[in-house]
Amino acid sequence: MKLRKVMIIGVGNVGSTTAYTFVNRGICEEIALVDLNNDLAYGHAQDLLDAAAYRQNMIKVSLRESTDCADIDIAIITVTSGLAQKSRAEELAGTSKIVASIVPNMMKNGFKGIFLIATNPCDAITYQVWKLSGLPRHRVIGTGVWLDTVRLRRLLGEQMDIGPQSIDAFIVGEHGDSQFPVWSHSSVYGIQLNQLDKNRIDFAEIGTAAKNKGFEIVKYKHCTEYGISSTITEICQHIFTNSHRALALSCILNGEYGYKDVAIGVPAILDQHGIKKIIELDFSDNEKQLFANSIGIVKDYIDQIK
Ligand SMILES: NC(=O)c1ccc[n+]([C@@H]2O[C@H](COP(=O)([O-])OP(=O)(O)OC[C@H]3O[C@@H](n4cnc5c(N)ncnc54)[C@H](O)[C@@H]3O)[C@@H](O)[C@H]2O)c1
Repeated sequence: MKLRKVMIIGVGNVGSTTAYTFVNRGICEEIALVDLNNDLAYGHAQDLLDAAAYRQNMIKVSLRESTDCADIDIAIITVTSGLAQKSRAEELAGTSKIVASIVPNMMKNGFKGIFLIATNPCDAITYQVWKLSGLPRHRVIGTGVWLDTVRLRRLLGEQMDIGPQSIDAFIVGEHGDSQFPVWSHSSVYGIQLNQLDKNRIDFAEIGTAAKNKGFEIVKYKHCTEYGISSTITEICQHIFTNSHRALALSCILNGEYGYKDVAIGVPAILDQHGIKKIIELDFSDNEKQLFANSIGIVKDYIDQIK
């Protein structure tokens, strides 16, 4: 059996918690840590190996350079330039420079896997990684609005007393302020949400709460890490198990929804090769406008990188 190997580039809050989540889920055999801060990476590796020793399966935690990547299946980008607690847009100048210094060198050194990007602004950086890597678009994926979607489901679930996994509601668009929930397609077992709970749910309020949840968490603990780490490991699990599950991810569009040359959050099916298929929804007129607005915002970010 082939050993499954992930590389985590940037082991700060998000990267280190992602590594710990991998250890606890036991879904890969090697976790390669990369960080400019060698002491931090070493400390995390030793701590993670202690945790891994509790598991039945062997998990290797290694320290590598990002260029030592020819055998890596999924490279996860969680770097930032120290502005993670600022707005996602403010991170762009710093994170795009770091990504430009890493990705081309990985390609020169034989990277053959899938890139998964959590670094913000997530959609623009996903697009940048796609361009710099020259990889086919199905092998470059951003975590996009999957965390926002799961937040929406758990907030709805809390109101309706239904488990979040049973709620088929989701968010599309930018992983940022212009994202929006697709209420026209939201249901529980085919029953529209507004039919299930006619009076209590304030949909606009829940959509805003899901969108702002990350900022709220940062206000209290200065970072977010557990939610996004669950997002990252779940995406990797679906890739490793060839699950064909549909998640709302940042994907490179090539004509879908009438747009090209941009990365944005849309529902997509995952298989062992990455994005198998983007699902095209029949948006309402209002949703079409919201989506166009979100595309415009991401394209503005992309123009700032070019
Ligand atoms: N997509 C999402 O839903 C989501 C959620 C939370 C955080 N994030 C983003 O994740 C990123 C990381 O956030 P964080 O809180 O972990 O930040 P952090 O500052 O704790 O960690 C970033 C790490 O990157 C490392 N780094 C910087 N330049 C590097 C380079 N050239 N090579 C290797 N390592 C390098 C730093 O040394 C640091 O350890 C940010 O962009 C943040 O906005 C995204």
